[in-house]
Amino acid sequence: MSDLTTPATRPADTASGPERGRRIDGKAFAVSLRKQIAADVVAFHAEYGVTPGLAVVLVGNDPASEIYVRNKALETHHVGMRSFMHMLPETTTEAALLTLIGRLNADPEIHGILVQLPLPNGIDARRITNAIDPKKDVDGLGEVNAGRLSLGLPGLIPCTPLGCLMLLQSELGNLRGLNAVVVGASNLVGKPMALLLLNEGCTVSIVHIDTINPQALTRTADILVVATGVSGLIRHDWVKPGATVIDVGITRVPTASGKTKLVGDVAFDEVAPIAGRITPVPGGVGPMTIACLLQNTLTAARLSLSESA
Ligand code: GUN
Repeated sequence: MSDLTTPATRPADTASGPERGRRIDGKAFAVSLRKQIAADVVAFHAEYGVTPGLAVVLVGNDPASEIYVRNKALETHHVGMRSFMHMLPETTTEAALLTLIGRLNADPEIHGILVQLPLPNGIDARRITNAIDPKKDVDGLGEVNAGRLSLGLPGLIPCTPLGCLMLLQSELGNLRGLNAVVVGASNLVGKPMALLLLNEGCTVSIVHIDTINPQALTRTADILVVATGVSGLIRHDWVKPGATVIDVGITRVPTASGKTKLVGDVAFDEVAPIAGRITPVPGGVGPMTIACLLQNTLTAARLSLSESA
């Protein structure tokens, strides 16, 4: 345990001059991560004769989800893994989906399983998520992996928070002792993000819908991670000068010219001059999510071997 009586000195405190508004290039980071994964897949195959396989299941025809799962399949191929797509009709029953998951759980060629959310009404997402074998739960959303994360044990970690953590560590190095504030308490991002930061030694607060005076908390943050789905929620006066800001939000909004564009939960133009470093939208966290899914699939393939040895 660290000595609580000794004030921590962070590199950011002692830097010669404050840097402001440095863009964190998630796209470039994801490219190099995918390159590393592709090399690891080759080495893994050479050593064990196994090609990692990822099954992605989509129920219904939500257009945004269709794009996401097609991109996942494409990128899976690009890093040399096998991709198994299951596009099921909107009318699929929960029982039929559970039967498919049972088959995928038993298939030795499949190391990772992802069921795209949201699911149509009438299907219990929690029951589906928990039916996935925890060793193949590359989304890290099942109760076993969520519990392992909350206990600080190794496991499969949800992809978006894992991507945020990688960006933070690459920018800041060791995160120990930093004040982190996570805005948004979803099971998909906010809660696992807070636990990851806690496990890295940060002092963590979660701002949520019932938080009184959220600004007072966000202004204490050395690390501010925002995942609410409310575009432009975080204004300049919510941010501590020099903070590292990670924007998970992604909302499509109309522009004056009649087109559309993607925006985040952070009002980028006004926050960037105050923040030390900040992820843009698009090109920040988004590209990291699929890269981390591929990383988790490789981890799951390794797990499958170590546990059958
Ligand atoms: N829908 C939006 N994000 C995600 C995700 O990270 N995992 C799954 N399964 N569905 C999603």
